[in-house]
Amino acid sequence: MCGIVGYIGHREAYPIIMKGLQRLEYRGYDSAGIALFDGNNIKLSKTKGKVVDLEDRVAKEINTEGSLGIGHTRWATHGVPNDVNSHPHYSNSGNLVIIHNGIIENYESLKKELTKRGYTFKSDTDTEVLINLIEDVKKNENTKLGKAVQIALNQVVGAYAIAVFDKNKPNEIVVARLGSPLAIGIGEDEFFIASDASPFIEYTKNAIYLEDEEMAIVRRNKGVKIRKIKDDSLVDPYIQELQINLEQIEKGGFDHFMLKEIYEQPSAIQDTFRGRMLPKDAIIKMAGVEDNMKTFLNADRIIVVACGTSWHAGLVSEYIFENLARIPVEVEYASEFRYRNPVITDKDVVIAISQSGETADTLAAIKLAKSKGAFVFGVCNVVGSSIARETDAGAYTHAGPEIGVASTKAFTTQITVLTLIALRLARAKGTITSTEFRHHMIELELIPEKVKKALESDDYVRSIAEIYKDASNFLYLGRGYNFPVALEGALKLKEISYIHAEGYPAAEMKHGPIALIDENMPIVVIATRKGHYDKVVSNIEEIKSRSGKIIGIVTEGDTTVKKLADHVIEVPESLELLSPLLTTIPLQLLSYHIAVMLDKNVDQPRNLAKSVTVE
Ligand code: F6R
Repeated sequence: MCGIVGYIGHREAYPIIMKGLQRLEYRGYDSAGIALFDGNNIKLSKTKGKVVDLEDRVAKEINTEGSLGIGHTRWATHGVPNDVNSHPHYSNSGNLVIIHNGIIENYESLKKELTKRGYTFKSDTDTEVLINLIEDVKKNENTKLGKAVQIALNQVVGAYAIAVFDKNKPNEIVVARLGSPLAIGIGEDEFFIASDASPFIEYTKNAIYLEDEEMAIVRRNKGVKIRKIKDDSLVDPYIQELQINLEQIEKGGFDHFMLKEIYEQPSAIQDTFRGRMLPKDAIIKMAGVEDNMKTFLNADRIIVVACGTSWHAGLVSEYIFENLARIPVEVEYASEFRYRNPVITDKDVVIAISQSGETADTLAAIKLAKSKGAFVFGVCNVVGSSIARETDAGAYTHAGPEIGVASTKAFTTQITVLTLIALRLARAKGTITSTEFRHHMIELELIPEKVKKALESDDYVRSIAEIYKDASNFLYLGRGYNFPVALEGALKLKEISYIHAEGYPAAEMKHGPIALIDENMPIVVIATRKGHYDKVVSNIEEIKSRSGKIIGIVTEGDTTVKKLADHVIEVPESLELLSPLLTTIPLQLLSYHIAVMLDKNVDQPRNLAKSVTVE
C-alpha cells in the first residue's frame, strides 16, 4: 500500500509527480504529499485527503519549480491519516526528505534511541523515525547519503520502498526496497521512480525493477548504481522493456476504472488463453506447467494460497482441479496458512494466486511453503511482481493493468488460467478423455463471446440496483462451482457500496442464515441449469415462503426460477465448470450500479488499497 513516485532530470518535476500520484492513487488514498527541490530550496506540501486535495494545497502553499522531486499517496499504517502524518517527512535538520511505502517494525525502539540522542518527532509515523536514523548515521559516520541509507537500513526490521534526497546533494535520489515494489524508469538523461511503471510509461519503456534488499543511487546525467544493502556488492542493472501502454491505464470513456475493467473481460479472458490453447490440435501449452509436469503429476495434493478475490478464484479452482484432474486440493487464506505451522512436504504443489503479486501475506505463505520443500507455482497479473519472482514457476493472467480497487477482470482471468492448468494436468493424467479435453477447450474458447452477451444485461441489472440500493443487507447463495461466486458477489457489494452482504453455499442457508430472511432481505441466488439446479430451486422456494426478495442468476431460457423469483438475470448456457466466468458478470454489475447510485467512490473505496503490502 502507498504509492511512491520521484523524478530527477531536465524537466519540471511537479506535473510528472502529480500525474504519477494520480495513477498510483489506487495504492492508497488517505493522504498525499510532494517535495520539490530547485537546487536551493526544498518546497514541501502535504495534506490529508486525495491527490486533488494536494493540488489545491500546493497551489496555495508552494512554488513548484524544480527538476527533482518525490511524491507519496498514503494508506495509513502508523499514525492516523492527517496532514502531519502524511509523507514526505523531513529529518530534524531539514536537509533530508523521505517517502516510504511499508512498515518499519522496530521503529519504537529506534525512536527511543533517537529521542535519547536529542531527536524530536512531529508525526506518529515510523517513516519519520527512519529519516532521522539516516540523518543520525550520516552525522555520526560522517558519510554520504547513500552509505548512510545503507547503514540505517541494516538496522531496520520491516518492509520498505523508499526514496530519499539530501539538500546538499541536488543531483541524486537514493532509493531502496525490501518487500515493497520499486521501479526505476530510465529516460534520456532523466530518471523516474515509482511503485509501478504507470507514472512514467509515456516517457520511457525501459525500467529496472529493484529486487528485495537492493538500493540504488540515481544520479542526474550519470545513471543508476545498484548495490546490495547487506553486503554492499554491486549489482548489474537488468533493464526490462515495459509491456503496458498509456491506453491501458486510462478510463477510455468509462465513468470508472471498475466499469471499464468489467467490460474488458471478454478480451482479458481471450488474452489469457490466447497462444496457450489450441482446441483444433487438442493442445494446451503453458511453459511453467510443461517444465514442471513431473512435479505436478507426482503431487500428493495442491494447496492454493491467496487472499480476498484471488482466494475466491482459488476456491473455484478446487472444484475444477478435483473434478477434472482428480488431485486433492486445499484452499487456504494466506494469512492463516503462514502462521498455522501447516503440514507441507516436498510432495505438495502450492499455487499462489495474486493479481498484484505484492500481497504481503501471500508472499509470506510462499516463502514458508518453499522453506518446507514444496514447489510453488504463481498465478499473477502484474509482470515482474514480487510473487512472480519469488515462485518457482508460474503463469501470468494477461488481464492488463487492473486499477479499480475492486477486483473484476483479475478474478475471471485467474479462473481461466487455473482451468487451463487443470485441463492440461487432467489430460496428462488421463482423468479425462481426449474428446472431453477438446470439448472443454472449445467451450472455453466460446466464453469471451458469452461474457459479451452477459454484459448485455447491464441496463436491466441497473434497474434492479435501483430497487435494492437502500437495502441494509444482502445474501448471496450458490452451490458447487458457483458457491465461490456467491462469496465473490457479496465481497464486491460490501467493499464498494458498504452494504453488509454475506455469501453462503445455498444448502447452508437452513443452518442459520435463513433466520435473517424477511421481506426486506434481497437474496441473490445463482441457479444455473446444470448446477444442482433442483436443489437450488428448493432453496429458492424456501426463501419465497419467507417473503425474501429473490434475484436469480439463471441460464438463458430458464422458466422455473422465473416463476419463483422477483427478478431473473440470464447468462448464456455453458459447461457448469465454466459458468463462474459468466455468473460473476451480473454480480459485478449489480455492486457497481448500487455503489454509483449511493454516490460511493467506486474505484477507491474507503479504507482499502489495491495492493496490500502489509499484513
Ligand atoms: C477485492 C480485492 C481484494 C484482493 C486481495 C488480494 O476486490 O481486490 O480482496 O483480491 O487483496 O490481492 P491480490 O490478488 O493482489 O493478492
